[in-house]
Amino acid sequence: MPQRTLTITQFILERERDHPQATGDFTALLNAIALAGKRISVDVNRAGLTDIIGRTGEINVQDEQVQKLDTIANTQFVTALTPTGLVCAIGSEEVEEPIPIEHGEDGRYVVLFDPLDGSSNIDVAAPIGTIFSIYRRKTAPGSGSNALEDMLQPGRDLEAAGYVLYGSSTMMAYSTGSGVHLFTLDPAIGEFILTDSDLRDDGGAKVYSTNEGNSSRWNQVDIDWVGQLKSEGYSARYIGALVADFHRNLLRGGIFAYPGDSKSPNGKLRLLYEAAPLSFVIEQAGGKATDGRQRILDIVPTELHQRTPLYIGSANEVDRILAMRS
Ligand code: AHG
Ligand code: MN
Ligand code: MN
Repeated sequence: MPQRTLTITQFILERERDHPQATGDFTALLNAIALAGKRISVDVNRAGLTDIIGRTGEINVQDEQVQKLDTIANTQFVTALTPTGLVCAIGSEEVEEPIPIEHGEDGRYVVLFDPLDGSSNIDVAAPIGTIFSIYRRKTAPGSGSNALEDMLQPGRDLEAAGYVLYGSSTMMAYSTGSGVHLFTLDPAIGEFILTDSDLRDDGGAKVYSTNEGNSSRWNQVDIDWVGQLKSEGYSARYIGALVADFHRNLLRGGIFAYPGDSKSPNGKLRLLYEAAPLSFVIEQAGGKATDGRQRILDIVPTELHQRTPLYIGSANEVDRILAMRS
């Protein structure tokens, strides 16, 4: 098989040529995100050798222990995005309020991210990820930066979204609304190289990914649903990092679920920087995502760190749980 050689930058430029109105903004933004992803990948690979494993001692806005790598990843993204001059506001899982951006007043885009997804996997060298999303600014450019209004947009208005997976290899997937494209980091040259374009999730794999340890708090429909899957011979796959579970199901088929339960009616996952961007990606690949009642991309957020139940994956699997819940 010939060696793959198209870099992510070459690929984005090639796709932009098909859209004469393209300004090159996405080339710059996605390059900045790829740069942060590469830097995090280096940190992750050396985590056990340097002093970056473990907790910082702080508790974040989610009431969760902050890992050192959470903070490092957050800084890498802000540092990579700021010099583009394109971003007026950044929202991060790790920071309660929108992050102030130097010279962000004229930026035309808003970026939201989960800098390090699956934090509890860091110390055990299991897969982790980054999730990102890009919206166009709603307030007038020049009118300041950091407006919450610019961040609280429904996923259907996303301009681009994607993720980076730090697994046995580092991969980056993104969509700008015309298909999902996947790249693998070649560590020898520090470039993301095209692995597959226009990915499709056509279903057909009998796989479910959910934390069944929570099932004593689930509602009866979710219990019945998983019971039915088991009786039909489905396999369970769950590594505890949404990016990794999602990525496997995107490539192989299957469904990921983090339902609401009696303790947390809205589940655990965050709408703006976990559920919505991955829902944008799965829909671009032919799959679906719902909170059990409505399409994730149609939820209009009211808070930056809002949580939502999530069922996401192959369309036939999402349709099945929706039918059971109706
Ligand atoms: P984060 O590390 O960004 O807080 O996200 C962790 C999330 C998600 O990655 C994963 O799917 C889920 O938490 C796992 O939760 P449980 O341990 O409750 O299964
Ligand atoms: Mn996360
Ligand atoms: Mn996180």
